[in-house]
Amino acid sequence: MNNQLSKVECKTENGYIVVPKGLVNVIVDKTEISGVDPKGEHTIYRGYTIDDIGANASFYEATYLFLKGRLPCEDELRELKKKIDYWRGRVPEKVFDALRYAPKTHPMFYGSYGVALLGQYYAPEWSFDLDSLYEHAIRVIAQLPVIFAAGWNLAYNGYLPRPDPGLDHAYDVLKMIIGREPSKIEARAFESTLVLYMDHGFNASTFTVRVIASTLSDLYSAVAGGISALKGPLHGGANEKAMEMLLEVREKAEKAGKPMEDYIEEYILDKLSRKEKIMGFGHRVYKVHDPRTDVAARFIAQLEDGDFWLRVLKRAEEVMWREKRLPANIDFYTAVLYYQLGIPIPMYTPIFAMGRVVGWSSHYIEQVSDNKIIRPTEKYVGPTGLKYKPLEERCKA
Ligand code: ACO
Repeated sequence: MNNQLSKVECKTENGYIVVPKGLVNVIVDKTEISGVDPKGEHTIYRGYTIDDIGANASFYEATYLFLKGRLPCEDELRELKKKIDYWRGRVPEKVFDALRYAPKTHPMFYGSYGVALLGQYYAPEWSFDLDSLYEHAIRVIAQLPVIFAAGWNLAYNGYLPRPDPGLDHAYDVLKMIIGREPSKIEARAFESTLVLYMDHGFNASTFTVRVIASTLSDLYSAVAGGISALKGPLHGGANEKAMEMLLEVREKAEKAGKPMEDYIEEYILDKLSRKEKIMGFGHRVYKVHDPRTDVAARFIAQLEDGDFWLRVLKRAEEVMWREKRLPANIDFYTAVLYYQLGIPIPMYTPIFAMGRVVGWSSHYIEQVSDNKIIRPTEKYVGPTGLKYKPLEERCKA
């Protein structure tokens, strides 16, 4: 964990607090949803460790925990499952029509504009009443995965997959993405990654959602913003980059006639010597170990070529720790797990969003329930005193 407060520069200037670039080590608000425990040892999901819930809770249970603040009783779980499964099958047909005309592009775009469209359809029913907020959260949690799966398959495979509300959420979503019935262990591995991805304190996309919520914009618009922030390679986009890198390593190792687990060492050393980043390593919070990787590793071991992939991952981790003192993050592990499931690489970050939408929705509700618009102040360092000149007088030598 990052507890290097001695490194923090926090000054005041003309009555303003000057915080470090990137808001490193800055607490901007309180939350009861998730974050690092007071000892700075674990990331906590509503009182439970992230790896405990990631390893044990179903998608429905973890969703209830996030939205309502505690694990559900049997009847509450049944009710939530019924609602999520119902709404998964109710994406407005016109959203699919819009996706039919979408250009072939990265599927994260389908999510951000698909969810903005949902916001338009549900606008007449929008309200800040708490019960209504929960209902909208359930809709967006249930429907975002369908939008991603539809956008991807329409653009790249020429068909529209239809959800089956009779199936379990994670199973049905995975089925729509890979176009076949997953096995029980495949569906459970996939479900566990959705839970591991659900939330992580004030990460960049969640903070984006909270900023949008603080303006009292609607949940769908906030989620569209969250998806846009998650897309970047320094955040959710890292799982795709990590897999692209691993496939490049595999190809080069084959050409060099060396085992991949050996070749990856020279590949990493070469990249580091050129000051390039290794995607899937490093984290703003986890400075020694990301506990989510242990849960993902247990599932990787049970999927195709698990032992081989774990040898490769462990070797890369040894090299990165020796050279940079940086641990692998969850994206390094989910990259391999999704590859084992046969998921197309451009769908890796959308899957991250399918889990994180639960955290985004919970943070949206927490923000609007005790709101103050988030509007920091800048330090202007540009020129002053310039005077407007008409066009014909400008740009003359
Ligand atoms: N490969 C090589 N060097 C790295 C890496 C990496 N993956 N990550 C950090 N470093 C180096 C930095 O260059 C920096 O070195 P310097 O002090 O010599 O300049 C040092 O380690 C500290 O790194 P920062 O970038 O300052 O750490 P920060 O907390 O700002 O950034 C981040 C964290 C963005 C995750 C960074 O580690 C990174 O870019 N990693 C690669 C992308 C990635 O995997 N993102 C996924 C994050 S987890 C998630 O979204 C679920």
